[in-house]
Amino acid sequence: MPVFHDPGTGEFHLRNDFTSYILRVHEGGQAGQLYFGPALAAGRSYRHLSPGEFASFDNGAGDFSRLECPVRGSGDFRAPALVAEQADGSTVLDLVYVAHRVYAGKRPIAGLPSTYVESDDEADTLELDLADARSGLVATLGYTIFRDFPAIARRMELRNGGQSRLILRCAMSASLDLPDPRWELLSLSGAWARERHLAARALAPGSQGVSSERGASGHQHNPFIALKRPGVGEAGGEVYGFSLVYSGNFLAEAEVDSFGITRTRIGIDPAGFAWTLEPGESFRTPEAVLAYSASGLGALSETYHRLYRTRLARGVWRDKARPVLVNNWEGTYFDFTESRLLGIAGVARDLGVELFVLDDGWFGRRDDDTSSLGDWAVDERKLPGGLASLARRVEAMGLKFGLWIEPEMVSPRSELFAAHPDWAIGVPGRPRTETRNQYVLDLSRPEIVEHLYGVIAGLLRSAPVSYLKWDMNRNITEPYGAALPPGRQGEFFHRYTLGLYSLLDRITREFPGLLVESCASGGGRFDPGLLAYAPQAWVSDDTDAVERLKIQWGTSLCYPLSSMGAHVSAVPNHQVGRITPLSTRAAAAFFGVFGYELDAAALSPAERAEILDQVAFYKRHRELIATGRFLRLLSPFEGDGNEVAWSCVSEDGNEALVGFYRVLNRPFAGPRRLRLRGLSPAKVYRVSTWPEAGDPVDADNAGLRGGDELMGAGLLLSAERGYGSRRGDFWSRIFELRAGN
Ligand code: DGJ
Repeated sequence: MPVFHDPGTGEFHLRNDFTSYILRVHEGGQAGQLYFGPALAAGRSYRHLSPGEFASFDNGAGDFSRLECPVRGSGDFRAPALVAEQADGSTVLDLVYVAHRVYAGKRPIAGLPSTYVESDDEADTLELDLADARSGLVATLGYTIFRDFPAIARRMELRNGGQSRLILRCAMSASLDLPDPRWELLSLSGAWARERHLAARALAPGSQGVSSERGASGHQHNPFIALKRPGVGEAGGEVYGFSLVYSGNFLAEAEVDSFGITRTRIGIDPAGFAWTLEPGESFRTPEAVLAYSASGLGALSETYHRLYRTRLARGVWRDKARPVLVNNWEGTYFDFTESRLLGIAGVARDLGVELFVLDDGWFGRRDDDTSSLGDWAVDERKLPGGLASLARRVEAMGLKFGLWIEPEMVSPRSELFAAHPDWAIGVPGRPRTETRNQYVLDLSRPEIVEHLYGVIAGLLRSAPVSYLKWDMNRNITEPYGAALPPGRQGEFFHRYTLGLYSLLDRITREFPGLLVESCASGGGRFDPGLLAYAPQAWVSDDTDAVERLKIQWGTSLCYPLSSMGAHVSAVPNHQVGRITPLSTRAAAAFFGVFGYELDAAALSPAERAEILDQVAFYKRHRELIATGRFLRLLSPFEGDGNEVAWSCVSEDGNEALVGFYRVLNRPFAGPRRLRLRGLSPAKVYRVSTWPEAGDPVDADNAGLRGGDELMGAGLLLSAERGYGSRRGDFWSRIFELRAGN
C-alpha cells in the first residue's frame, strides 16, 4: 500500500519508488507536515522531523510549525492556505483531525479538470478531514500518490457543516513548507508573442511569486513554478515543481520566513476572491500537482510531460498521431474567398498536409477585427455555399476540415450584442474597456453557456468539422457578474472558469472525435486546465523560428511536445520581420504539433519541394516527437543564447532526434561538440542529418557512433572549413539517430 498509516504515531506516509510525502496528526489534532522529497523507507517513524505540538503564539515561534493547512490568526504569521470568514466576522480557525479515508485510485473533482487514472492500481488517495468545531467548517485535504510518477496531486474541499454562512477568502490547492531557503524560484513569464520565457531569481526573505487576476492564466505568467537548488540545470540536482490544473486567476508564491523555512503555496488567487458557503454547501479547489526531481529540471519536465500527456489529456486524440495542418491566418488574414481557401488547401494536400484550418473571418461581416464576434453564421459573401460546402470540398480533396471560433467573446458591433448587451461583462453604469474591439461574455451565467453550447454544437453538426481552434483574445476587465448579488461578486472569476469548463466538457463529450486546439492570442491560456479538454494548444502568435526557441524551451518545462502547436510561417516573419531559412523554421516547429501558417498557393516550386520533404520527415518522426523523452541540451537563456539544442529520445532508447540551432553565424568559428543525454550507452547509433545539404557537419557525423561516445564526447559541430558563409545566420541541423547497424 503506497499510503501507510501508523495510528500509534498518527503518521501518514505516501510513498512510491521515487518519492515520499509524510504528514502527521499532531497531539493537538493539527495536520502537520513532516517531509516531501526522495523516497524514505516505509515502516519507520519520522515524527521527529517536526515538533509534535503546534507551537502557539510566542514571538513568532508558531512559525516553526509546518502545517498541511495553515490558517490565519493562529500564531503562524505566514501566508495561509485557508481563510474563512465566519458569522461574527472573525477568521480564526482551529482545524483538528476528525477522520481520514484511504482508497485505491483517484476520483474526479466535480466541475474541474484533474489528472486521472485508468485503473485503481495506478494511484492511491488519502483524504483527511479537519474540522473547526466552532464554525462547523470541514476541510478535506486530498492527496493522491501515483504509482509511476514522482508526483503528488493535492486539492482541498471545504464544507460548511455549521449553522451559519461562511465566506471563503482564501482556499489554496496546496501549501508546502520546505525546511531551508536555498532555492531559486523559476517561473514561466513573458508577454504576448514572447510567452513562457524562463525567469529565475534567488529566494530572499519575504514573499515572491507570480499570479494572474486577468480571468485567464495569461501570457504574463503561467500557473507553474519550480524551486531548484542554485546552479542546478537540466541534469542532476534537486527541484520541486508546483503546477496548477486551472485556467483562471491563480497565485503561485514562495515565502521565506525569518527562520529560513520556505513556504510555497499555489491555488486560486485570493486577491478579489470570496466564496459564500451556506450551511451544507461545499467548495472544491482546483488540483495542484507537486513533483520532485533529484535529477534536475530535465527529470522534472519528464514527470509533467508523461503525467499530463497520458493522465490529464483525454479522449481519442490523446494517443493518436495529430494531423499536419495548414492554417490560413497568416496566409490571408480576413481576406479570403472560397476559391482562395481551396487553392491553399489543394497545394497543401499535394505537399502531404492532412488538415485544413479556416481561421478568423468566416462569419458575420468580419472583414477586420472590429465586428461580428458572437454572430456565428457564415458570411456568404466569402463562402457562398456555407461551411458545409467548403468543408465537403476540402474533404473531397483528401484533407480534414478544421474551424476557428472565439466563443467567449462578443463584438460591440454584432447582432448578439444588439440583442443582449447585458451578456457582456461589465459594471452597470460604468463604461466597458474594449480590447481588440471586443467584450467578454459572462460565462458565469448558465444561460449564456447554454447559448454557446447551442452555437458550437450547431456548427459542428452543420458541417464535417474534425478540428476546432478555440481562441480567446482578451482578458476580463470591469469584472462583474450581473447575475450575482453584490455580496457574491468575489465568486465571479471562478464561476466564469467553471462555466468555461462545463462548456468544454459538454462539447468534448458530445463530439468525442473532435480534436480541439486551445488558443488565447497565442499562448495566453496555455495551462493544464485547458489541456484536459484540448490536447494541443497554440504556443504563441510569434511564429519566428528564433523567437520560438525561447518560447518552446520555456513551455517545455511543464508541458509535453504533444501539447505544443508549432507552425512554419512565411518570411519576412509577420511578428519580427526576420528572414530565416525555411529549413530552420521547420526544424524549430518539428518539436511540437507541426503545421503551416501561410498561403501555400504562393509558395515557389523550390519551397514546395522543401515542404514536401519536411512534411514527410515529420510524419516519419511524429510518434517519437509526441511520446519520446524531451531532453533540453543547450539553453537559449544561458550565456548569449546564440546556440540552442534539444532532443527527443524514444522510451526504448532506440531512436532519437536532435535539433541544433545557431542564431547568428560567427566568423572563423572553431569546432564544437554537442553532448547528448538519454541514449543507451551500450547501443550503437547510425547518425544522419537533415536536411541533406552537403555541409561538413553532415559528413563529420555520418555513420555509426556509440551511445557512450555521443553522450561522452558528443556530436561534432564542425568548424566552418570554408563553409561558414554558406551557413549564414539562423542555421540549424537535425540529427537522426537510430540504434542498429
Ligand atoms: C489570435 C490567434 O492566436 C491567431 O492564431 C489567430 O487565430 C487570431 N487570433 C485570429 O483572430
